[in-house]
Amino acid sequence: MSVSVEPTSVEPSQNHSAPANTGGAGSAGSGGSAPGTEAAQALRPHAEQAFAAELAALAAQDDRPRPARWKLSPWAVATYLLGGALPDGTVITPKYVGPRRIVEVAVTTLATDRALLLLGVPGTAKTWVSEHLAAAVSGDSTLLVQGTAGTPEEAIRYGWNYARLLAHGPSRDALVPSPVMRAMAQGMTARVEELTRIPADVQDTLITILSEKTLPIPELGEEVQAVRGFNLIATANDRDRGVNDLSSALRRRFNTVVLPLPETPEAEVDIVSRRVDQIGRSLDLPAAPDGIDEIRRVVTVFRELRDGVTTDGRTKLKSPSGTLSTAEAISVVTNGLALAAHFGDGVLRAGDVAAGILGAVVRDPAADRVVWQEYLETVVRERDGWKDFYRACREVTA
Ligand SMILES: Nc1ncnc2c1ncn2[C@@H]1O[C@H](COP(=O)(O)OP(=O)(O)OP(=O)(O)O)[C@@H](O)[C@H]1O
Ligand SMILES: [Mg+2]
Repeated sequence: MSVSVEPTSVEPSQNHSAPANTGGAGSAGSGGSAPGTEAAQALRPHAEQAFAAELAALAAQDDRPRPARWKLSPWAVATYLLGGALPDGTVITPKYVGPRRIVEVAVTTLATDRALLLLGVPGTAKTWVSEHLAAAVSGDSTLLVQGTAGTPEEAIRYGWNYARLLAHGPSRDALVPSPVMRAMAQGMTARVEELTRIPADVQDTLITILSEKTLPIPELGEEVQAVRGFNLIATANDRDRGVNDLSSALRRRFNTVVLPLPETPEAEVDIVSRRVDQIGRSLDLPAAPDGIDEIRRVVTVFRELRDGVTTDGRTKLKSPSGTLSTAEAISVVTNGLALAAHFGDGVLRAGDVAAGILGAVVRDPAADRVVWQEYLETVVRERDGWKDFYRACREVTA
């Protein structure tokens, strides 16, 4: 499964920081590593490393037109995200489970002169989709700016190597390009995470980049012009709305795609079991038989509490303060599997997920605990076949 990956072909001289980011992390303790093993050793390989074989198979069989500098055609990028089978029988696993149209609109946007904004509540795979899109379109998902309240303009434009700046004055040599600048120069996909957490004036540095497609460097009297193929994917959390809302000038430069919560319980169970399986394999957890029943139960609890009503629509429920996202369901089940593997008989049972569920539901120790206890006593206790789960939850709640 682990595939050795050639470094993506970017001009090496321009690109000091990209390899430095990825190297080293996975190599501690493993002497004499051959080329390529670092990716295999990485705790979390980048999408283009983890799915190198699928991307290569798609590239080999993709005979549709590709936009400038794209590694794949838009059709192949969508297939990479949504999954499918290729003419030669290669199976492409689905990365994103959700409406096909959403992926098509997102991919098409990247081929236009507008940037892509992925919006949604927490845990709706915004980051995940952004990473896979960049991997499929440009073969590199690492040109990334993480947005925080402290993100400075330099993180989006460029900074300086002060030793060189002092020794030789401003020059291209002393300039430290941001991931966005590198993406512009190389015609690649840049990513900005949590755009709305970035202070408004810093966000606005993106306006020139996205409308003029240039990044001026006044200190050198130069500019970097975006090469064809450049585009940008930003993610923003619905819940951060109002923190640093996008200015309307910036918003107009983006096509917004809203990622929804999984529509049906089956879809959510599917997402959780796929991801748990992948994560479990990367952590070398033993494969658990029959985990699906417990996954279904976790998803049911999460959905009922999130929606404020039981699946049969009969009982109204109070919702806790946490988001109870699919992403949290994934980590509850993964933790449960680890418990079952290390301290149980390897089979995922109610007792293995109860503590995780409690932790996800009860964020506010006072109010959420009341909500949880009410749910336990009125819904869980009465439900057929849920006795073991009720007991396990009572044990950890007490
Ligand atoms: N529809 C979906 N299809 C596939 N995976 C999903 C889906 N929804 C959630 N996930 C999984 O949830 C996990 C978390 O997703 P991710 O971190 O991308 O969420 P996010 O929207 O960026 O959340 P946040 O707003 O907290 O940053 C990922 O492992 C992803 O695989
Ligand atoms: Mg995210």
